[in-house]
Amino acid sequence: MIKTVYKALLPITLLGAVSLPMVSAAQDKTIHDGIYTAAQAESGKAIYDRTCAGCHNQRFYEQAWPGWATRTVEQFWFYIVSDMPQDNPGSLYDDEYTDVAAYIFSLMGYPAGDEPMEPTGAHVDVLIGSPE
Ligand code: HEC
Repeated sequence: MIKTVYKALLPITLLGAVSLPMVSAAQDKTIHDGIYTAAQAESGKAIYDRTCAGCHNQRFYEQAWPGWATRTVEQFWFYIVSDMPQDNPGSLYDDEYTDVAAYIFSLMGYPAGDEPMEPTGAHVDVLIGSPE
């Protein structure tokens, strides 16, 4: 119970505007359930190629991934929004960061689905989970 409360409160401390019922409803979901669309990943690839690819290849994410498996979609999104690209953090629009995150998830083998990803909305507390 204590752990559940902690997990529910964490996104609030990060962004300050998350409703609790939404958070608890999504808790058992992971991105294996298909939480981005193929269109988002495709748009993200174009942005990624010109903004991120100079510093990171797929191998970079494979090595970094164990650290993300137990964290949420919102935490991943918030990290790239606030810290990346390292030479110009925060330089993309929020939707562009979302598409880039979708592309990275596709690169790591997570499936696309029907619903567009909303890292600070519907999917705020969805766990990343280990790749297959
Ligand atoms: C100029 C080089 C550079 C660019 C461009 C860049 N990054 Fe990074 N990135 C880094 C460095 C260096 C680190 C390690 C930072 C650290 O450990 O504090 C990093 C770390 C990361 C991590 C964390 C990996 C981990 O250890 O868990 C992610 C995810 C990431 N970058 C994604 C992106 C995305 C997405 C973009 C494009 C929007 C991007 N990066 C653009 C240099 C870059």
